[in-house]
Amino acid sequence: MKKMIVSPLGGFDFETDKIASDKSMSHRCAIFSLLSDKPSTVWNYLQAEDTLCTLSIVESLGAKIEKKEGVLIITPPHEVVEPPLILDCGNSGTAIRLLMGFLSTCKGFFVLSGDSYLCSRPMRRVADPLRHIGAMIDGRSEGNYAPLGIRGQSLKSFDYESKIASAQVKSALILAALKAQDVCTFSEPELSRDHSERMLRGMGAKVESQGLKVTIYPQKSPLKPLNIKVPNDPSSGFFFAVAAAITKGSSVVLKNMLLNKTRIEAYKVLSRMGAHVEFIETDNTYDSVGDIIVTGKELHAVCVEENISWLIDELPALSIAFACASGKSVVKNAQELRVKESDRISSVVKNLRLCGISVEEFEDGYEVEGGALQSATINSFGDHRIAMSFAIAGIIAKMHIEDIDCINTSFPNFIELLSQIGKVE
Ligand code: S3P
Repeated sequence: MKKMIVSPLGGFDFETDKIASDKSMSHRCAIFSLLSDKPSTVWNYLQAEDTLCTLSIVESLGAKIEKKEGVLIITPPHEVVEPPLILDCGNSGTAIRLLMGFLSTCKGFFVLSGDSYLCSRPMRRVADPLRHIGAMIDGRSEGNYAPLGIRGQSLKSFDYESKIASAQVKSALILAALKAQDVCTFSEPELSRDHSERMLRGMGAKVESQGLKVTIYPQKSPLKPLNIKVPNDPSSGFFFAVAAAITKGSSVVLKNMLLNKTRIEAYKVLSRMGAHVEFIETDNTYDSVGDIIVTGKELHAVCVEENISWLIDELPALSIAFACASGKSVVKNAQELRVKESDRISSVVKNLRLCGISVEEFEDGYEVEGGALQSATINSFGDHRIAMSFAIAGIIAKMHIEDIDCINTSFPNFIELLSQIGKVE
């Protein structure tokens, strides 16, 4: 298992267009290309372990993949092929859950699995509503844990009210609904990221969004192919935003970032804490895209309790900003953090305490008393966002980060970029 040491280098002005491509959109590009009968063209597909797993699953399902200088051409099969081997989703919750919805309607038998972390994450949230409309899904613990076996079926229509705001659950059900027998509706308690709805509409699907409700009409014929440039990932860029925010006078310019409102909420929290944050839109063809500028100023504490799904992935990095702010910051209503790549409430709390920060843990969040970060040895718990968040803390106080291989799941060039603002050994 690889480790790294990160130590401070002082203030910086850092500009980059090399933040990893958006992970959520990349997964969807690969899976949704199977809904067309023509080749999809995808620029800037994320070349990281998670999304490369999805791409090879799409290949195992019969697609032909060609890679040419930053462009991916995905030619779908006439009909999805029944693969002889298991489909390995690696560490990716998005891949396994979206594929559950998609494969539930495809002819054949499919086995979805992943690494030990993914195999301990709950799948009932997708399996149960799908089984309710006739899907045949089984797995460990009555279908809650991978490996999961799926035998594709014709599915009934549904009106499903989800108790959790999860784009993975929503997207799985939208994919099933496209092949269901009649019109379906899905509603959620808070708007989760809406890439599936936007991209499927762009492909010609009849997917209507009204507030928290999505209406999906059955799709009788193949969709138009995708022709898309994936923007850079605001969740990956956020590590560098925090780096600037906690280093007074330093700044970052993050170029070609996805600016979808369900993805930039954490930047707005940094701004509420006192950092200077600017969004400059440069394009809005499929979704808002542009540059984000963050400049470090004096930070003060904040309470985060609304629109949690809009910043759920950024909370570990945001916790580093809380630790560097004056006063007590609070996170509430974030119980979903417990079922991410690690139990992120526990991972953040344990590691912040190792850094000498006073933290209180709740079932649905935590409270952080800002203070002076102290040098520590950090356990990533095999979770990419925990490893990268505490690596960023290393630009304030030297951090030894254990088990950093997980960074490759979403941001393989993270260390290369980090070494431009901190000392990395
Ligand atoms: C994702 C949705 C979120 C997010 C994950 C990516 C997606 O998960 O945490 O990193 O691409 O749909 P949930 O939908 O389970 O909240």
